[in-house]
Amino acid sequence: MIEIFEIDGLPGFNQDDEKNPPEKVTELKAKIRAADAILIVTPEYNYSVPGVLKNAIDWASRPSGDSAWNGKAVAVMGASVGVIGTARAQYHLRQVFVFLDMDAVNQPEVMINASKSFDDQGNLTDQQTKDLIGKLLANLVKKAGKRKA
Ligand SMILES: Cc1cc2nc3c(=O)[nH]c(=O)nc-3n(C[C@H](O)[C@H](O)[C@H](O)COP(=O)(O)O)c2cc1C
Repeated sequence: MIEIFEIDGLPGFNQDDEKNPPEKVTELKAKIRAADAILIVTPEYNYSVPGVLKNAIDWASRPSGDSAWNGKAVAVMGASVGVIGTARAQYHLRQVFVFLDMDAVNQPEVMINASKSFDDQGNLTDQQTKDLIGKLLANLVKKAGKRKA
């Protein structure tokens, strides 16, 4: 089962509050800890990770020694109107995963050119992209299973 956590409404990270975080941060950390694996789905902003996503990652990584991300299996995919479909944002995210000691799925890379892959109602129509997403999820499940064993 995939459970969606919406990151809207999280306040900007403030280190003065990291030991007494807002309720939504406590909820986010609990959901991450309870999850077998994490799937991050993102657009690309100004050639990088959207600030709101980085903010959520930062909150859940603190305080020092109490990161919820430690060792988590993670996969990333994204869609943008640009031809390289969030590639730059995804590689910046992967750099963050290294410091957080997350266990990232390397392949396949799912970088969706949103101008070509969806119909007017926003449904994904491109079969190749659907197949890639299926493979990514299967590899994430495999990784999560190995980590539990
Ligand atoms: C602040 C901002 C910066 C953006 N920078 C990029 C970018 O660097 N590369 C890219 O492919 N798309 C960029 N976009 C587009 C987004 O990735 C995404 O495709 C778009 O916000 C979707 O909006 P729509 O639902 O109105 O099409 C940016 C959007 C915003 C709001």
